[in-house]
Amino acid sequence: MQKTMGGFATRQRLLQAGRLPVPLMHRQILYLSHLASPGGLGGFRMADIAKQAAKRNQLVGIRAVLLFDGYRFCHLFEGKDEESSGLLARLRADPRHQGLRVLSDRLLCECEITPAYVLGPLVSGHCDALEFDVFEGDFPPTGAAALTHFTQILRRADLQP
Ligand SMILES: Cc1cc2nc3c(=O)[nH]c(=O)nc-3n(C[C@H](O)[C@H](O)[C@H](O)COP(=O)(O)O)c2cc1C
Repeated sequence: MQKTMGGFATRQRLLQAGRLPVPLMHRQILYLSHLASPGGLGGFRMADIAKQAAKRNQLVGIRAVLLFDGYRFCHLFEGKDEESSGLLARLRADPRHQGLRVLSDRLLCECEITPAYVLGPLVSGHCDALEFDVFEGDFPPTGAAALTHFTQILRRADLQP
């Protein structure tokens, strides 16, 4: 234990002295949002959003899963801290959805970063209407609990090939 703490302290000192490369920080975000117009996407199709998003994510190294239940979106994405933060800001400003609620937001250590061969720029799919009810209400699961729910929903989702 002491050895680990000592190693950590030494690493921090070297980092502060600029003698080690700054570790690559990745940020992973899971959120839930609602369609802006309950009647539909207002001229936009889910396939269009997904196609555009995949292209953009590819350019900046974001990896994502976007699920839609016909009314709500649940979106998990990760990438370099500044890219994830930029995407979150654009998503918050996107008028096609509303009520964006972040369920999990964490920095990933290097060993937690999902390799590109496991998850591409964007996997999208549909799920049953009731699946996201678990994330509604005043006290939805957050953090690790929210990620566990999302993983279970993902297993039952109908993903685009
Ligand atoms: C539900 C939903 C999911 C989206 N997912 C992504 C995404 O993964 N990556 C992305 O670049 N844009 C995504 N977008 C589009 C962004 O909100 C934004 O319109 C796009 O990044 C272009 O932003 P800009 O017009 O400010 O350049 C998504 C939009 C919606 C409504």
